[in-house]
Amino acid sequence: MSTREESARSPAQPFWLRGPFAPVTAEVTTHDLPVVGEVPRELSGTYLRNGPNPKDGPSGHWWFGDGMVHGVHLEGGKARWYRNRYVRSARFHGTDLTPKEGEDARVARARRLRGGGTSNTHVIEHAGRILSMVEAALPMQLDQELSTVGPFDFGGAVDTPMTAHPKRCPRTGELHFIGYQPMPPFLTYYIADAAGRVITKREIEVDGPSFMHDFAITEQYAVFFDSPLRMTRDWGDGMPFAWSDTHTARIGVVPRAGGAVRWFEFEPGYLSHTANAFERDGTIVLTGARSTRFEVPPFLYRWEIHLDSGRTREGAIDERVVDFPRIDDRRTGEPHRYTYVVEMRDFVGGVPTGTVLRRYDAATGGSVAQELGPRQVPGECVFAPRSGDPSEDAGFLLSIVYDGERDGSDLVVLDAKNFGAAPVARVRLPQRVPFGFHGSWVLL
Ligand SMILES: [Fe+2]
Repeated sequence: MSTREESARSPAQPFWLRGPFAPVTAEVTTHDLPVVGEVPRELSGTYLRNGPNPKDGPSGHWWFGDGMVHGVHLEGGKARWYRNRYVRSARFHGTDLTPKEGEDARVARARRLRGGGTSNTHVIEHAGRILSMVEAALPMQLDQELSTVGPFDFGGAVDTPMTAHPKRCPRTGELHFIGYQPMPPFLTYYIADAAGRVITKREIEVDGPSFMHDFAITEQYAVFFDSPLRMTRDWGDGMPFAWSDTHTARIGVVPRAGGAVRWFEFEPGYLSHTANAFERDGTIVLTGARSTRFEVPPFLYRWEIHLDSGRTREGAIDERVVDFPRIDDRRTGEPHRYTYVVEMRDFVGGVPTGTVLRRYDAATGGSVAQELGPRQVPGECVFAPRSGDPSEDAGFLLSIVYDGERDGSDLVVLDAKNFGAAPVARVRLPQRVPFGFHGSWVLL
């Protein structure tokens, strides 16, 4: 047994280094994967998912492992390949990024941003580029075989960290994103056009940085959540955040086209992840996973702002512990009906053994669970649209599911119109995929 395998089995290890969280060491490429059921022939693209996978074994927090991207390519009714690759950041290479004596602070800062941080949180495609992201640094560009190309700064236009949760506007094809950091400018709002050129860069005035892991767009506005969870120093060892009992939770709304930001106050808490936001009858409706304190389990919540009167409303949609909310991305910024989440329950040693996928229906107010069988633990699900049918939920949901029966992982394909029914396909992956964070369906 290797040292890594021993550590994966040791109960003395923190939860993120053992069991289904434990990192894998091999970078694997496997073609023509076995499938239970049938991969829909119309699914032609690649599912990508990022997550922490500490290269040297240990890491001080689940969030701090080196990024590893897993990809599964589906085409012609077959699972053509699986591959996984470390994101080769400066940190991966062990490059020392600390400022040199007498060095200009801006030069040192730029070098650190270009290092890519852990690059372990999300992976997207925009303007033909695959970008691996973490909110502490610039994205790292990957090629179609998931090899690292290098840092990507949008032709020099981005000189702050970049969120791992950018939003693509389905009407314009623009990529909207933010960068937050512990020195001025604390918050920057960017828009890149469909070709990947930054066309807007605006400082959003705040009185200091807060943990702003996610944000939202609507058809006309960008929406920022400024919370009591304050950023107290730069990223490094440990979490650079502290809860403030005096800082009010507030949501900022700024026209995408330009103009002043307006702030609206809400109950203490913070936005963990956005499901979506949209405008309806002059009201901005934001739905997302909300926590009341740092690292307290989140649940689904709705905030509303009537723009003319300034009246606000908020409340929990459900009491279940859920996170990783996703929608049919073609509805980003527009009214949506379905929100897909990971519901976490039955925690044993930090591992949510009874985890299921759940779909919330805004039209009925109800929800339905997707059971996948005993000892099956799904991660975030990603929507892959059925081409030619623009109706919401016309498509498939993709999720990597840990199979505790064989200590392995499958890519599970669900028909979104039959949520709750048996999967249409389970692609057997050649190795366990550690629990991770976010992913995308890309057409490359
Ligand atoms: Fe996230």
